[in-house]
Amino acid sequence: MADPQEILAQRVQSALGAAFGPDFADTDPVIRPSQFADFQANAALPLAKRLGRAPRDVAADIVAHLDVSDMCRDAEISGPGFINLTLRDDWIAARAQDLLSDPRAGIPQQEPQTIPIDYSAPNVAKEMHVGHLRTTVVGDALARVLEALGHNVVRQNHIGDWGTPFGMLIEHLLDSGEHSPEAELVKTDPNAFYQAARTKFDASPEFAERARKRVVALQAGDPETLRLWRELVDLSKIYFNRVYATLDVTLTDSDLAGESMYNDMLPGICDELEDKGIAEVSEGALCVFQPEFTGREGKPVPLIVRKSDGGYGYGTTDLATIRYRVEELGATSRVVYVVGAPQALHFRMVWAAARKAGWLPDRVTPIHVQIGNVLGDDGKILRTRSGQPIRLMALLEEAVDRAAKVVAENRPDLDDATRAAIAREVGIGAVKYADLSVSHDTEYVFDYDRMLALNGNTGPYLQYAAARIRSIFRKGGVDPDSATGPITLTEPAERDLALALLGFGPVVSAVGDTLEPHRLCGYLFDLAQAFTAFFEHCPVLQAEDPAVRDSRLALIAATLRTLVTGLGLLGVRTPEQM
Ligand code: ARG
Repeated sequence: MADPQEILAQRVQSALGAAFGPDFADTDPVIRPSQFADFQANAALPLAKRLGRAPRDVAADIVAHLDVSDMCRDAEISGPGFINLTLRDDWIAARAQDLLSDPRAGIPQQEPQTIPIDYSAPNVAKEMHVGHLRTTVVGDALARVLEALGHNVVRQNHIGDWGTPFGMLIEHLLDSGEHSPEAELVKTDPNAFYQAARTKFDASPEFAERARKRVVALQAGDPETLRLWRELVDLSKIYFNRVYATLDVTLTDSDLAGESMYNDMLPGICDELEDKGIAEVSEGALCVFQPEFTGREGKPVPLIVRKSDGGYGYGTTDLATIRYRVEELGATSRVVYVVGAPQALHFRMVWAAARKAGWLPDRVTPIHVQIGNVLGDDGKILRTRSGQPIRLMALLEEAVDRAAKVVAENRPDLDDATRAAIAREVGIGAVKYADLSVSHDTEYVFDYDRMLALNGNTGPYLQYAAARIRSIFRKGGVDPDSATGPITLTEPAERDLALALLGFGPVVSAVGDTLEPHRLCGYLFDLAQAFTAFFEHCPVLQAEDPAVRDSRLALIAATLRTLVTGLGLLGVRTPEQM
């Protein structure tokens, strides 16, 4: 283990036990990064209250019992009773050295859990919107991080592949011809297909009637209707998979677990809820009333599980998803839903009902990773000028085109194919990173210029830092894998960079625990800045002393690996050159 904060916490805890007795051995040592040292331990302040003593005296007692001489140069009391802890350079160097030979690149192995994670979940024969883009990108990053930490991640792409719109969609498919150019639109521009069906539905009572009958036939399992439905789903899969390939996300067909998959379970869900007295019939609909969910005038808001016409709703299906993920997929402790923030109440109501029904044991915590809206520069949900939803593929292509212009300007020396490959990685990386670098539940304004900027907390800035390191190795004719040091630290910028490297493992675990990928972005940005500062002050290839050169090459090799691994966990590629 190389996390200094964690090790110091253990050491201070032992000191607390030794100084004040076993009752104090599990007191929080309150270790924080410090402005004045590397870390500070603030435990003395709350303890002083508990002991009725002066905080500085308590701090002195802690320091007297503290055994950190192997890792700290200084343990000094400051202010009202903080203990400032400064690491030894040789300790940092040795940990950085360990990192170089660690096959896990510093990422800790956690106790493996089975974690289903629901993300992306676009709707069949509909355009994926920027909200779907964001759950796809955030969910994929979380899946990668949890896997890297050693968990058994089960991806669940809960596509919207069932419901009343299929009546009009199937009729429109039949009217247009199954292999017509109109039908092909489902693969390329699904919204055009959907809108055409919708327009007919609104304009023609005859069409609307056919659509309604078709819904009945679909629900009754009419084979021809099911065949047409499947065809629409298959055409949509082609569209989804094109988007996933462009975005470079890990979802495959085997992760599809759409709404229709749960159809057979819904009657049983309703029956059990009714038998257990959790649901009751109200105005013909089967509803779950929960006193903790009240609306206006304190009346409970119903979760409708079976409508008065016998149909099931989105909520019923999500009762089935949580049950399935616990019982069939074997979720050990967490089930993660990466879904738009507006669905928060839906999930709370569903999960509360599932707990009452016994489908959600106490050991399992369902988690809604709330996805905030992506806005246009008018501050409203991003749309085209004419108010239509943006075609996601067009949005991604534009990012790549804009990246291509930057690459063309910066690298006229490269051939077209190489430039195009770089532009793709930079353009897509920029869009993905923009989604990841702000906390997942906040809104942000979609802005190409900002996301593609080579400065600031952007994908391209980090990719550029990695490309710069690669170019140093190319120039020196050195293979990064053979840069093994030994690492010695003399310059402050070297020390800062090495210390920053030690933060990688801890931040990856923190992302696994909090499900907040922006923490990893913030870390990588700090690391890239530490590298930039290092590179300004410390010549690498030009270092006169060969031992210094080797040490610095090893430091930047570890930095490169951390950047590439970290961006990889976010699903962002790092071009060889930029
Ligand atoms: N298809 C839904 C939508 O587009 C998202 C589904 C999220 N997952 C779930 N289990 N409800 O809003």
